[in-house]
Amino acid sequence: MIYDNHNRPITYLRLAVTDRCNLRCFYCMPEEGIRYLPKQQVLTYEEMERLVRVLARLGVSKVRITGGEPFVRVGLMPFLHRLSETPGLTDISLTTNGVLTAPHVSDLAKLGVKSVNLSIDTLDRERFHKITRRDELPAVLNTLDALLSAGITTKLNAVVMDGQNIDDLVPLTELTRHLPVDVRFIEEMPFNGEGSHYPVLYWTHTRIVDHLRAHFPELTKLPDSPFSTSAGYQIPGHQGTVGIIAAFSRTFCGTCNRIRLTAQGTLKTCLYDDGVLDVRELLRRGDTDEQLTAAFLRAFAHRPATGFDAEQNRTTVTESMATIGG
Ligand code: 5AD
Ligand code: SF4
Repeated sequence: MIYDNHNRPITYLRLAVTDRCNLRCFYCMPEEGIRYLPKQQVLTYEEMERLVRVLARLGVSKVRITGGEPFVRVGLMPFLHRLSETPGLTDISLTTNGVLTAPHVSDLAKLGVKSVNLSIDTLDRERFHKITRRDELPAVLNTLDALLSAGITTKLNAVVMDGQNIDDLVPLTELTRHLPVDVRFIEEMPFNGEGSHYPVLYWTHTRIVDHLRAHFPELTKLPDSPFSTSAGYQIPGHQGTVGIIAAFSRTFCGTCNRIRLTAQGTLKTCLYDDGVLDVRELLRRGDTDEQLTAAFLRAFAHRPATGFDAEQNRTTVTESMATIGG
């Protein structure tokens, strides 16, 4: 196992397989979309497989596939199949917007995909259309049904947005009454492809908890697993759980075990950094696995302690979450 310069193990890779998306969530992209990467700048599946093999040898045991939207990239399922054979990799999971996902769910289950995170900010079709700029809620709900029927652990991600979906916090939480899902409320981060919406964050993790507690006074704190970014809660008697992710307040950096590879092959050792290593360049100039390993180790030895430190070392944020991978 590899530890970083702050004694945190690096065991979890978030791998963005594309920067493209079929939705336009307003907190992620401007309406006209972002300028997508030309194809040759995106890592090939073979390149990603190689990087995962190298990282797995260093102790990375979990990979989460992100995007953009993973299912807009052709050949995703065969790629996941090959990835699932990587020695040392014990956990493959996926984050999806659920628009194209339902037909693949039984194959995901067969592949042994452990858990799927489904982005769903509202249960109201019109609001969904307004937030994502596409009328796709029915498709997303189909995917949710399919995931639950397949017995795949399902987390629902909702970004909490002032003036947009505050009325949805209670109905989304109500889903936990009869469904074994983890509904996670995420603080909005300034990664919408055009700079932040708010100069300060209005809906902080503490305010979200207060809001939920006003409607569910029995809301109880659960113990959290060691590397979780989500603070868990439950309403007694409910099948599912609730999580709050302080993505903007960054309360969890002390136990951060994750690194990210963007679709163009940039290594990020913190969500808030600018990218610390151009891995694509190393791959394409012919570096050996040993050279790649050495470059990764150097990057892990210089990780910022917190997302605030990482942010200080970067220029203005005009990035989209679709290029970062969440
Ligand atoms: N702030 C918080 N969460 C975001 N996501 C995308 N953009 C933002 C943002 N600006 C969420 C998506 C997805 C997860 C990977 O990140 O909703 O569920
Ligand atoms: Fe697409 Fe996810 Fe960004 Fe929405 S948040 S536009 S689903 S990448």
